[in-house]
Amino acid sequence: MNVTKQLHEEHLIIRDFLDQLQIAADRIVENRVPDKMFFEDAVRFARDFTDKYHHYKEEMVMFTRLAQLHTGLIDAETERLRSQHEQGRNHIAEISSLTGLLENPVQDNLRKLRLNLLEYIKLMRSHLNLENLSFFPMVESTLSDDDKLMILEEFKTSEQKLGEHFYDNSSKLLTEMKQILNE
Ligand SMILES: [Fe+2]
Ligand SMILES: [Fe+2]
Repeated sequence: MNVTKQLHEEHLIIRDFLDQLQIAADRIVENRVPDKMFFEDAVRFARDFTDKYHHYKEEMVMFTRLAQLHTGLIDAETERLRSQHEQGRNHIAEISSLTGLLENPVQDNLRKLRLNLLEYIKLMRSHLNLENLSFFPMVESTLSDDDKLMILEEFKTSEQKLGEHFYDNSSKLLTEMKQILNE
């Protein structure tokens, strides 16, 4: 039984999102700053899909179950991953407040916006790699089938709590971001 397959698939969507942020960061240098709506969508996507949908499953479901098993090595890893989620949220908070200033963009704010985008992209790419290549395989070999079944059930419950349109709404945000970059 595989408990991380779905998380792997969600990582592909997050990588796609990060690619769009990279394009936006490059455009800032070229003096072709994307429309404000791009950044508003990006903040919403990061808060909704990445945090409420994906990180919730990791932190509140998977990490919580792993903590009950008291495996020292995994405890250290979950703390590290949890703190990376937190750092990501801090960058998104910065990006959100800088987006509010985009009506009258000044160079210093654009520089800070780009810097936060780049730091967020770098952090999240290395975070996804760490989970894919090291953490998830460790989880798969540590958890019993009973644990995995229970976690998969809790994943489903957490998705249902967000409402049936939550996933589609996040997909729409990503599509809209791509459309804005293509305008
Ligand atoms: Fe994570
Ligand atoms: Fe993840």
